Amino acid sequence: MQNVKIIDHPLVQHKISLMRDINTGTKEFRELASETAMLMCYEATRDLPLKTVEIQTPVAVAKSRIISGKKLAFVPVLRAGLAMTDGIVQLLPAAKVGHIGIFRDPETTNAVEYYCKLPSDVSERDVIITDIMLATGVTSVKTIDILKKAGVKNIKLMCIIASPQGIEAVNKAYPDVEIYCGAVDEGLNDQNYIVPGLGDAGDRIFGTK
Ligand code: URA
Repeated sequence: MQNVKIIDHPLVQHKISLMRDINTGTKEFRELASETAMLMCYEATRDLPLKTVEIQTPVAVAKSRIISGKKLAFVPVLRAGLAMTDGIVQLLPAAKVGHIGIFRDPETTNAVEYYCKLPSDVSERDVIITDIMLATGVTSVKTIDILKKAGVKNIKLMCIIASPQGIEAVNKAYPDVEIYCGAVDEGLNDQNYIVPGLGDAGDRIFGTK
């Protein structure tokens, strides 16, 4: 069985449709990526443990629940993953943020790491990777390799659109990594773009095309 959770909430689906639209401009696209990630994070953090504390309200003492010190880190994959992290750090401001830069060598098709800066205590944290598009899965698998080598035990991968090939590649290499996505599209074209997808997520976020 595949380790993937599709977040079919109407708000997520609506925002993904707006992101797909070729007429959606850079500013709106970036805001939508951030908002969609924020909504998806609600599901991806559903298993955070809680503890009960006593809180004085203006009326009485309430036994109420708070997140019980679970340490989290977000790791956006450069460039596109950055726009997702903008949204989720608003929900979890205590989480630390690492960055990983990887490109896919068009000749060898290997993933090449060009930047990596992780929180110094990353091995004690649960990590949620953010990457808008899970296409071939090569970049995601390499990102997970790096995090596992750094000692991270619990990793989730959050992407907005996935291809069946990407899901299969990540599940095969790392069956323990849960994938959260908003849509699984038809597949990849000969340039490894997701079809129908939303185009080049980095270009659409940063207006570089
Ligand atoms: N990366 C993108 O930005 N878009 C795709 O369709 C695939 C990979």
